[in-house]
Amino acid sequence: MIRVKNLAKHFGGVYAVKDCSFDIKPGKITSVIGPNGAGKTTMFNLVCNIISADDGSVYFKKENITRLPTHKIARVGISRTFQQARLFKNLTVKENLTISRPCSEKEIRDVLEKVAFKLPIDTKGSALSYGQMRLLEIARALLHPHELLMLDEPTAGVNPSVRQELKKILKQLNKEGKTIMFIEHDMDFVMSISDEVIVMAEGRVLMRGTPKQVQKDKRVLEAYLGK
Ligand SMILES: Nc1ncnc2c1ncn2[C@@H]1O[C@H](COP(=O)(O)OP(=O)(O)O)[C@@H](O)[C@H]1O
Ligand SMILES: [Mg+2]
Repeated sequence: MIRVKNLAKHFGGVYAVKDCSFDIKPGKITSVIGPNGAGKTTMFNLVCNIISADDGSVYFKKENITRLPTHKIARVGISRTFQQARLFKNLTVKENLTISRPCSEKEIRDVLEKVAFKLPIDTKGSALSYGQMRLLEIARALLHPHELLMLDEPTAGVNPSVRQELKKILKQLNKEGKTIMFIEHDMDFVMSISDEVIVMAEGRVLMRGTPKQVQKDKRVLEAYLGK
């Protein structure tokens, strides 16, 4: 579904992502793990061309999207969330959802039901808990027509019950045919829902495999502990 080839990006003298290559299979849940600073978020931003790559290419269903503007990448079928929720506190739930794409009240209710968001749609952003903000951000990503959903640390800072909810939501979306790729720190979460795990370290893919394979790999442990 998506193929990344030799992506590279440096900031100043330091490469955040270097020689990063992998592919994502359609219909699968793939997680991206790795220590802080491994280049995971930068890689996501390169895929969506939120920051432009120094080198390398990104293919989505065989189409080269490397240099496409971000809004066109969204249109080919990639929807994403960010590491920090990007919502407007002074806008209502409904306004936050419709700001990037007009949609009907029914669409909004359907998508909120999907992410188990229980507050009225005229609730102000400022009244939401952190967990609710994360759910709302996922709802917004879902409102965009997409085949691939990319989530940057969906469980970061959310309580265990929202975490469980998120697990269910992602599994259900996957069942409905969505391909999902997400960056995550919570290993239990990663191991319990991923078909494949990509491990990044120092801007590259260190290894990939099933959760089981990754869990018992010495290199992965070393990457986390530091050499
Ligand atoms: N806009 C930026 N300017 C300078 N350095 C950056 C920028 N974004 C990321 N970096 C650096 O690139 C490296 C990778 O960061 P990031 O992609 O955020 O890692 P991760 O998401 O895996 O924690 C880090 O060393 C980080 O400090
Ligand atoms: Mg990050």
